[in-house]
Amino acid sequence: MTLAAETLELLQQAATRAAENAYAPYSKFRVGAALLLDDGSTVTGCNVENASYGLTICAERSAIVRAVSEKGPQVRVRAIAVDTLNEAAAAPCGACRQVLGEFADDDAVLSFPAILPGGERGFETLPFFDLLPYRFHLDQDRG
Ligand code: THU
Repeated sequence: MTLAAETLELLQQAATRAAENAYAPYSKFRVGAALLLDDGSTVTGCNVENASYGLTICAERSAIVRAVSEKGPQVRVRAIAVDTLNEAAAAPCGACRQVLGEFADDDAVLSFPAILPGGERGFETLPFFDLLPYRFHLDQDRG
């Protein structure tokens, strides 16, 4: 889907603000995610770490969990923005891509901090499919 530049910018700002709430005492890597839902609302999440490390939940998955909790199981995600306060690249991890894919169509817009070809940090904006082609799903009629 296409997204107005202004809408994407607002979503990115929401992701940046959400990163301020990150609980990341171990990695100090603070991540925020903002989801634009099919009803036009925005839901955010941040990473929440744990002393056991492995129980850490990423910002993207915390946003998805919150969206389903607030809106119900039929919720659909139209766009996803991710940001980090660490001036680093932060493409969603593989686990988050699979979980996002449960609620986002292939053409959902995904924007995340990346090191661009010129070497500077910027935002890469791609259709969700480009980050997770051929994801696992149970509908065998789909490719
Ligand atoms: N993290 C995210 O929030 N999203 C990702 O997609 C990758 C990593 C978090 C998890 C952990 O708290 C910190 O970043 C460092 O890995």
